[in-house]
Amino acid sequence: MGNVTITNHPLIQHKLTLLRDKNTGSKEFRALVGEIAMLMCYEATRDLPLKEVEIETPVSVAKTRVISGKKLAFVPILRAGLGMMDGVLALVPSARVGHIGLYRDPETLQPVEYYCKLPTDIQEREVIVLDPMLATGGSAIDAITQIKKRGPKTIKFMGIIAAPEGLDALCKAHPDVDIFCAALDEKLNDHGYILPGLGDAGDRIFGTK
Ligand code: PRP
Ligand code: URA
Repeated sequence: MGNVTITNHPLIQHKLTLLRDKNTGSKEFRALVGEIAMLMCYEATRDLPLKEVEIETPVSVAKTRVISGKKLAFVPILRAGLGMMDGVLALVPSARVGHIGLYRDPETLQPVEYYCKLPTDIQEREVIVLDPMLATGGSAIDAITQIKKRGPKTIKFMGIIAAPEGLDALCKAHPDVDIFCAALDEKLNDHGYILPGLGDAGDRIFGTK
């Protein structure tokens, strides 16, 4: 079973409170999603492999370390995952970026895929899938299934708010995937929204409702 990490750093929890508030407008909401994603990315990349290198400082030679290999690819799930991209790319600017377009059918709550473009060298990369909301888990499970077909080295999932139902389903469907979330909420309502949650993440990021 993959590890589940709830990133409960005080800065993340404070920003999450602002994010949940219905009075927070799109401009601030977007900024907060990016900042939380950046802080969470710090945790999610903690185990990246390093290798020793030798460099010259202005006064001497230093044996020091850099991240080894082809490194990372981020894959946001459209649309709301896009809101996390600025934050993670601020930390890892050389990462490759793939995109998976999915939306939940409002009646069945099943994910419907409409786009998938992944880096060609994904087999040599560690992938972090990004989506702020893990509700039923259907979207994350489907996205990870698509990515696995292309054989990346490892896959992690980074969300902001998870419902117990979605977390459970994702752990069962992809037990090899490490999961990072800033909060584990109470439950889903009858329409598949997370309670207390933050509402519709895509609409709040892009101001579409
Ligand atoms: C939201 C969210 C996730 C999905 C989570 O996207 O960003 O992708 O729902 O729900 P699930 O865990 O039950 O699959 P939505 O379908 O609203 O699409 P959007 O981001 O384009 O608005
Ligand atoms: N998608 C969202 O954006 N919010 C939820 O609460 C559930 C799914």
